[in-house]
Amino acid sequence: MINIGKNIEAYLPPEILALVKAAGGIAASKGQRAYLVGGVVRDLFLKRRNLDLDLVVEGDALALARQLAKGRDGKLVTHPRFGTATFKQGAFSLDLVTARSETYAEPGALPTVKPGSIQDDLFRRDFSINAMAASIDPARFGDLIDPYGGKSDLDRHLIRVLHQRSFKDDPTRVWRALRYEQRLDFRLEFDTTTQLRRDSAMMVRVSGDRLRHELERILEEDYPEKVFYRAERLGVLRHLHLALEGNGWLGERFDMAREASGSAKPDINLYLALLAWRLDDEALKSFIERLKFGREAARALRDIPRLKQALHALAAAELMPSGVYHILEHHRPETIQAAVLVTDSALVRQRLELYLSSLRFVVLSLSGNDLKKMGVAQGKKMGTMLRALKEARLNGEVTTREDERKLVRRWLNRGKR
Ligand code: CTP
Repeated sequence: MINIGKNIEAYLPPEILALVKAAGGIAASKGQRAYLVGGVVRDLFLKRRNLDLDLVVEGDALALARQLAKGRDGKLVTHPRFGTATFKQGAFSLDLVTARSETYAEPGALPTVKPGSIQDDLFRRDFSINAMAASIDPARFGDLIDPYGGKSDLDRHLIRVLHQRSFKDDPTRVWRALRYEQRLDFRLEFDTTTQLRRDSAMMVRVSGDRLRHELERILEEDYPEKVFYRAERLGVLRHLHLALEGNGWLGERFDMAREASGSAKPDINLYLALLAWRLDDEALKSFIERLKFGREAARALRDIPRLKQALHALAAAELMPSGVYHILEHHRPETIQAAVLVTDSALVRQRLELYLSSLRFVVLSLSGNDLKKMGVAQGKKMGTMLRALKEARLNGEVTTREDERKLVRRWLNRGKR
C-alpha cells in the first residue's frame, strides 16, 4: 500500500489540511471511512494547485458536512435530494458525497445511483487519473486507493478510460478527455482513442445544457483552442457543431484575445464569439438552439452576422466619431471586441477600439431639465437639441458642461435672429 500522507500534508494549505483531517476524524468517530478523491489526488501528484476538493464518505455525507460546518466560518450548501453538500470558505470549496455505484440505463442519460463502497465509487469515474482516492481516516491517513493504475498512467502521461462502455455511458467524457489531455499535455491511450472515436456520435443524446456546460469548461481552460484543434483532428469537433472549425485561425485569435486582456483571462463570451464567428446564419442558429445558450449569450451570438455587415460601413474613408457611434451603438461589446481581433483593416480596428474605449461611454452633462431652465421649450425641438449636443460631444466639439451650455446659448441666440 502506497501512503501519500506526507504529500497531502505538504500540498494542502494548513487551514484546509486541518479541515480535511477534522472531516476524517468525524467520519471515523461514526465508524465510517472518508477519502479525498478525484481531481485533488491527481493534482497533488502533478503539483498543480487545486482548491476544489472532493471528499467521498462510505456513510452519510450530509450528516458529516453538517457536523463539519458547525462552529466553522464558511458557507454550507446542502442538496438533500442528492445526499451531497458543499462547504465553501473563500476560494476554497469542499464537496462531500456518499460513496455510490452508478449504472446507465442508456447512453447519455443520467445514471441510476445507489450507495456503494469507495471501490464502486472509483469505478463509476471517467479516467484512471481521476479514479484515485486517499484515505483521510486518522488511522490510515494518506493510504492510496488506486485500483485502475491511475498513478502509473499519471507517470506515463496517459488519459485512459476504465472500461469499454465509458464514452457510451457518458459521451460528455469525450470533451473531458480532450480537456485533460490538452491541459496536462498528456496523450489519449490507444484503446481510449479508438473508443472515443467510435462512441463520440452518442453525443447527439446529450442534452443541450450538458453539452453547453462542457463547452464552457473548455473555454475556461488556459488554451481552449488546443482542445478544438485536437477535436478537429480526431474528427469529433463536428459533434459540438457540424460547421465549427478548430484550425490555426482560431488559435491566432484566441492568442490575441489573451494578449489584449493582459493578466486576466479573456471573457469566455469573447472566446465564444470568436469560435462562432465563421458560422453562417443557418449554422449559427442551429448552434444556438443545440447548445441552449442563455438569453445574453444568444443575443451576443446573434449579433455576429449583423455586426459583420456593419463593418463595411465602418470602412468608409470619411467618418466622424459620431458616425462610428451610430453604426455600433446597438451592437454588443463582446461581439465588437471579437471584431477587433478579426478585422484585417487597421482603420476599422481603430474605429472599433475608439467606440469600445470611449464613444460608448459618452454622456451629456446637460439634461432636458437643464435645457428647460435655459429657455428651451419641451418637445420636438428639445429632442433635436439633445441629439445635436450628443453629436457635438461625440465629435469632441464640446468637452465640458460649460461648453455644452455655450453651444445651447449660441443655438438659442441664432434662433432669435
Ligand atoms: N467525474 C467523472 N465523469 C464525469 C464528471 C466527473 O468521472 N462526467 C469524476 C472524476 O473523477 C472527476 C470528479 O468526478 O475527477 C470531479 O469532477 P470535476 O469537478 O468535473 O473534475 P475535476 O477532476 O475536479 O476537474 P477539473 O480539474 O477540470 O475541475
